[in-house]
Amino acid sequence: MTIIQFPENFVWGVSTSAYQIEGSLDKDGRGPSIWDVMAATPGKIYQGDDASIACDSYNRYEEDIQLMKELGVKAYRFSVSWPRIYPNGFGEVNRQGIEHYKRMVKKLLENGIEPFCTLYHWELPQSLQEKGGWENRETIDAFVMFAETMFREFDGLIKHWMTFNEPWCTAINGHLLGRHAPCIMNWQSAIQVGHHLLVAHGKTVAKFRELGTAGEIGYAPDIYWYEPFSRKQKDIDAAYRAFSIYTWFVTPVFTGKYPEEMAAWIKTKGAEPVIEPGDMEIISQKIDFLGLNFYGGNIVRHKEGNNYLDLEHVDLGYDKSDKGWFIFPEGLYLTLSWLTEQFGPIPIYITENGACYNDEVVDGKVNDVRRIKFLESHIAELGRAIESGVKVKGYLTWSLMDNFEWAFGYSCRFGLIHVDYRTQVRTPKESYYWYQKLIRKNWFEL
Ligand code: NOJ
Repeated sequence: MTIIQFPENFVWGVSTSAYQIEGSLDKDGRGPSIWDVMAATPGKIYQGDDASIACDSYNRYEEDIQLMKELGVKAYRFSVSWPRIYPNGFGEVNRQGIEHYKRMVKKLLENGIEPFCTLYHWELPQSLQEKGGWENRETIDAFVMFAETMFREFDGLIKHWMTFNEPWCTAINGHLLGRHAPCIMNWQSAIQVGHHLLVAHGKTVAKFRELGTAGEIGYAPDIYWYEPFSRKQKDIDAAYRAFSIYTWFVTPVFTGKYPEEMAAWIKTKGAEPVIEPGDMEIISQKIDFLGLNFYGGNIVRHKEGNNYLDLEHVDLGYDKSDKGWFIFPEGLYLTLSWLTEQFGPIPIYITENGACYNDEVVDGKVNDVRRIKFLESHIAELGRAIESGVKVKGYLTWSLMDNFEWAFGYSCRFGLIHVDYRTQVRTPKESYYWYQKLIRKNWFEL
């Protein structure tokens, strides 16, 4: 039996994002976002689902906070919907949007839950997309203005900030693979968007420092861990690409440089970021913590012309979630160790980790044993990383409750709490009770 003891002030938490849970898209002066447009386009979202109601959390946040309190979490990571604050992306601030999040943040604080706020979880105001979106450098200024408004309004209330959630997703899913809004498919666009996201990140961090906002700031990239299928150089290179297309959005933040080998490979696809003088310095502003979204990994091998990285995934029989993602708990330990080796002992929060398992309510219970197993195996690897000296300050699981899973609509359940989308009844799953126990003890045995 192995006992894994977590540090005394370890932050246990849960994560969500505005678009995935709030609903009320037309309420209190919110403007349209690129996701509203995507959802209204036939064939883009599974079964034509949309987020107009989602978990109705815009109206039910008090009930959700009560569930978090009973769960015992110390932190709640949520995002602020940019088009609720600036319905057109810039111009007049929409006070109703600000007041909504103030009520919510105050409720969290009253209940002893620390707000962890993500500024960009993919909700670009549509009016900015019409001017070129993230391909247009001016979007950077609009974003920094939105961030500044948030820092000023919430100074002293929110002390943990993240600029961007998963820049890989916005750049690659949104601008190369066409799976996410704004559904563009172009290498140069993806790489340029990625660059602008990083510049916007750096400028926002600089603004945070300039304003002297209380608290800490970081961001939350996603990284998947990949191993080569064989020791052939081509397979090793394929695994390098599979991993580095994620760290492309991480390495420059710490080193001020894009990784050269990957840059050279991307160039073979005809893409190269247009970098203005001073950009790399701005991108590499010191951050206070790194958020890591970790979901899995796999074994890959070279395959010319296959997928966007000339590689294929090899099914060696690892377990998969109901979304088909390979489960690779050790990848969490390996990723954390890699980050620490590369960039030194940076403070890290796991800002997302979880899995899609579509268990339903049976006799009032949701017996999601596979989710418990998933959490157990990942938290064990996390404990191993902490023991080996990686500075992990907290773990925020994805997600508090089932929600709108982007292009997959409501077909993928990631929550500790089951949501019946017809009645909005919330049913804590067995994993919720498992997590509650873990938080109370702050240790667990394997
Ligand atoms: C990462 C994203 O940040 C989140 O929005 C999404 O629901 C989860 N991954 C699960 O796919």
